[in-house]
This record gives sequence, structure tokens and C-alpha cells, in this order.
Amino acid sequence: MAESISPMNGGSGTYSYARNSTWQRNGALIVEDAVKEAVAESLDLAKLLCESNTFVVADLGCSVGPNTFYAMETIIGAVQQLKCDRSLEFQVAFNDRVGNDFNTLFASLPEHGRNRNYFAAAVAGSFYGRLFPSSSVHIAYSSASLNWLSKVPEGLTAEGSPAWNAAKIHYSGSSDAVARAYEDQFEEDMEVFFRCRAQEIAAGGLRLFNMAVVPSKDVQHRIASLFTFIESILIDMVKEGVLAQERVDSFNIPIVFPWVEQVRRLLEKNKCFEIVKMEKVEIAGKRDSKTSVMHIRAGLEGTLSNHFGSEIVEQVFERAIQQQHNLQVKHIDISSTGIFVVLRRN
Ligand SMILES: C[S@@+](CC[C@H](N)C(=O)[O-])C[C@H]1O[C@@H](n2cnc3c(N)ncnc32)[C@H](O)[C@@H]1O
Repeated sequence: MAESISPMNGGSGTYSYARNSTWQRNGALIVEDAVKEAVAESLDLAKLLCESNTFVVADLGCSVGPNTFYAMETIIGAVQQLKCDRSLEFQVAFNDRVGNDFNTLFASLPEHGRNRNYFAAAVAGSFYGRLFPSSSVHIAYSSASLNWLSKVPEGLTAEGSPAWNAAKIHYSGSSDAVARAYEDQFEEDMEVFFRCRAQEIAAGGLRLFNMAVVPSKDVQHRIASLFTFIESILIDMVKEGVLAQERVDSFNIPIVFPWVEQVRRLLEKNKCFEIVKMEKVEIAGKRDSKTSVMHIRAGLEGTLSNHFGSEIVEQVFERAIQQQHNLQVKHIDISSTGIFVVLRRN
């Protein structure tokens, strides 16, 4: 059965993730120095590699580039600065869901030996499961991917359930029971995620990640207001008879913006990793509303199409462009809070 959650738009066309992912690029850029520092200060190469000359980096939720290439170059560059009595070879494992456009990723990969100093491999599959052999990864990185849940939380689409999310497509502005269902799913997913990574990351290896968060539970993330905008378009289409109410009732975006202390609590629960660093990062920025619609399209079009069909989704984004003025402000403030975390495998 096809997955209901789709990866980002593939290819390199107008609506592709490759051309509409500067938000995510900014999020990664802001932590670039912190990534270098983490490698310089927290990695003991001699202990980590023992006899081997191969250093393995994994990007979990890499999408199609180019952001992943920049991130992998940063990490490898930082490892090369470390003192080492052997000459190392690098292997990068690009991971994403099975439907990710790995063809575009590999077609745009810098040329080996000239602009790329690592061997590249694709590892297709959900990171909410095992992806690598035991203790085989030295650094596992991810950027802006842990906000995606493994699935839509249970109960959201069941009429009569306390968490039934009728006429809404996310937990923003919804009932406490709906918010709680998202929270529970996130906590369950994080537990599975770190259990798997604990098996795969070698002792002394690092887990580096950044993700979008909110400062406290009661704050709405700015990206969530874009989901509300898409929701209002779908509701209009129901009122006009273009779309059945039931189609909206049964759709929910499987993305969360956890609050900082929630993430800390979950990390502290996993005793396999030491928390070396956990810092808040402010990602400042403004985008005109058309760019915001394009970014949302690049990220959500596949998941929306799986549910509503591509014709409806085409109409949704046409309307979104026509109604840009309904986005709260013309130049949307997309500044938001993120966290950057460095964990070391005990
Ligand atoms: C917003 S994109 C970020 C891509 C890239 N890291 C960047 O910074 O540009 C999130 C990525 O995480 C991937 N993703 C989400 N859930 C995943 C899962 N369970 N397993 C693997 N990848 C996943 C999505 O398919 C998507 O490519």
C-alpha cells in the first residue's frame, strides 16, 4: 500500500523542493558554526574509529538537495580538521522515505574526487525504524525532518472519538484532545527514533539535529498559521460544493512543533545518549506571501495529493496564490524558534 505521507516535491521544476527550500537552508546555515564546534569538541576520532579508516555520516531526512550537500560538506570538513594518524575515507548515507526523489538527489550530487570527497549511498526507508547495522554510524545528522510524525495520530479521523478533528487539518486552533493526540504520537515516535539510533550510532559517535520548535506549549509556530490558511481554502471549497466535507474531516497534516522543554524531557528519558548541547536558535526572516505558498507547496503537495487528488490540490494552490492577501501580513514574518542539539552515544 502506498504511504499517505509523501516526501517533498522532487525534480528541479518550479514547485520542486530543490528550488523552494531556502527556509530550511537558513535553519541549517544558522547552526553551521555550532555543527563545526560540536565535531571539534565532542568527537574522539581515535576512540571512535579504532582500526577502521572509514568514517560514516548519515543525513536522516535529506530530501533532494542542495541543502543536504552543504550540510554533509560542513560535517566532513570539520572531521578533517581533527588530528588523526590515518588517512580517512568518508561515506555519506543519504536517507529519506522510499518515495523521495533519490534520482534527482544523485543526478545533482557534486562530482566525486573534484567537488566531493565522500562516497555516497542512498538508504531509503523511514527513520522511525532501523536503517543501519549496529554501531556502524559515526555522525547522524538531520535538519528540519524530525517535525514529521511517523503517521497521523490515532483518533483524529474517527467520528465520535474525543480527538476527532472535523473541519480542521492540524492541531492549531483545535481541541485539547487533538493537541494531546499529536503530542502522544510525537513522544512515541521520538522514543522509537532514539531507540533505533542508539543501536546504530557507534559509542562516542554523535547525533546532531535541528528542528522547528515553539518556546512554550501555548505558542503557535508561524508555519502552523500557513496550515490554517490552506485549511480555510479547503473549507471554502466545501462550502462551494467542490469538495466533500468528509474529505477535509479525514485529512490531517502529520507535522508537530514541539515545545523546547518537551524535547528536553524526551532526550533525558533516553539513557543511551549524553546531552552535550541543546540550544535555542532564532531563525529570522521575511518572505513575501507567494514564496511562502511555494514553500508550503514544495513540502506538502504530495501528502495533500495522496488524500485529495492532484486536481483538487492544483486548485488549492491556485486559490492560495489568488488569496495571498489573506495571509495575515503581506510580508510574512517567518522568523521562528528552532533548537540545535548535540548528543553523544555513551
Ligand atoms: C523539510 S524536509 C528537510 C530536508 C533537508 N534535511 C533540508 O534541510 O533541506 C524534511 C524531510 O524529512 C523527510 N522525512 C520525514 N519523515 C521521515 C521519515 N520517517 N523517515 C525518513 N525521512 C523522513 C521528508 O521526506 C523530507 O524530505
